[in-house]
Amino acid sequence: MKYYFILGKNPELSKAEIESVLELFDYKFKIIEFKKNILILEMPRKLDVEVINQRLGGTVKIGQIIDQVNDLEKIANKFCQLIKCQSGKLHFGFSLYSLSDKINLAKKKKQIKPIAMEIKRKMREQKHLNSRWVISQEIELSSVIVKKNQLLKYGSEICLFFSDQQILIGQTLAVQAFAEFGARDYKRPSRDQTAGMLPPKLARIMLNLAKIRPEAKILDPFCGSGTILQEALILGYQNLIGFDSSDNAIKYTQDNLTWLADKYNFDLKNIQLNQVDVKNLNQHLDEQSIDCIITEPYLGPPLKGNEPEIQINKNIQELEELYLEAFKQFQQVLRENGKIVMVIPEFKIKNKTKQLDLDKIKGFKFLNQEKLIYSRPHQYLWRQIKIFIKK
Ligand SMILES: C[S@@+](CC[C@H](N)C(=O)[O-])C[C@H]1O[C@@H](n2cnc3c(N)ncnc32)[C@H](O)[C@@H]1O
Repeated sequence: MKYYFILGKNPELSKAEIESVLELFDYKFKIIEFKKNILILEMPRKLDVEVINQRLGGTVKIGQIIDQVNDLEKIANKFCQLIKCQSGKLHFGFSLYSLSDKINLAKKKKQIKPIAMEIKRKMREQKHLNSRWVISQEIELSSVIVKKNQLLKYGSEICLFFSDQQILIGQTLAVQAFAEFGARDYKRPSRDQTAGMLPPKLARIMLNLAKIRPEAKILDPFCGSGTILQEALILGYQNLIGFDSSDNAIKYTQDNLTWLADKYNFDLKNIQLNQVDVKNLNQHLDEQSIDCIITEPYLGPPLKGNEPEIQINKNIQELEELYLEAFKQFQQVLRENGKIVMVIPEFKIKNKTKQLDLDKIKGFKFLNQEKLIYSRPHQYLWRQIKIFIKK
């Protein structure tokens, strides 16, 4: 069986997350294609698409490759054979993706209209079904359009993957719960924009990269407004510890977790929240008592982009000192082979990239070889996601 994953804005990171989740759920898989925002996998066992879709933070759509053709004109016939139609009205739409640099998708898009008209005609004549063709300005339908037009409930989103020789036909089976992620970001009671907030999707990705079992004890020593703890709760982790040096941050986390617990009926009895400076972790936690640390640490003062280089260098030096102290504490409280998934900042100032020197950190090795970046265009601060394991 072949499944496709349409990846979010940071495809390398989304791909690493998918690999990690599939391994955690004991799926075997082989990568068939990885091009821009498209990942196609071959899997010997049926994928529980709902479960995996609910789990992931960096994937926009998941679907199955159901057939292939070598000519776009054959799509209408294939569609009518393959798509199981319920009674009532059929809603359908096409998204086009390219697996080759030579394919001009804008040109292909123009060829879709007569195919869609033929599908409508065939559906009416052969199956006595009225159908609605859902279109968009874009070459691919967004997950919002797919959901709002109820394409998965009353019909189909067909994804066409063009390579030089053939066209793979895919049917979307699930789209990301974007509204729920948005609500956990913008509708929660306490948001501290001055401290910088991690997007819930990234918090989710970081938890998934850790590949940890449900009973694991997870620590976020810079918990801020509690985004990582929120997503951990949603994933079913219950042994959670949130520390922060700011008492306001602890209050925000408390408010947000209480709000979430009410909304989803969660139990917060195994969650410990305290105002603790990272330099004093060992005074509050037993040695080797933590299975995993997932955190976005303090990233320095907010940037406008016009800071002199000397200021950025000073910020970097301060962060290096803080992280070095933090890792000495992590070394004590983390169990053997325990993991740390952590945001490490990279600064993009005046076309230069400035990175932290982490060479002084001892007792850990990096688990991810590839560079995993979460960024938006024009951001001065890029988040690099690093996975460390205690030696
Ligand atoms: C970037 S924020 C974390 C944001 C968090 N991931 C969220 O989504 O809300 C960094 C946090 O580190 C805290 N902090 C700064 N220095 C600290 C220290 N020495 N020990 C513990 N927490 C610290 C700040 O109070 C702030 O809440």
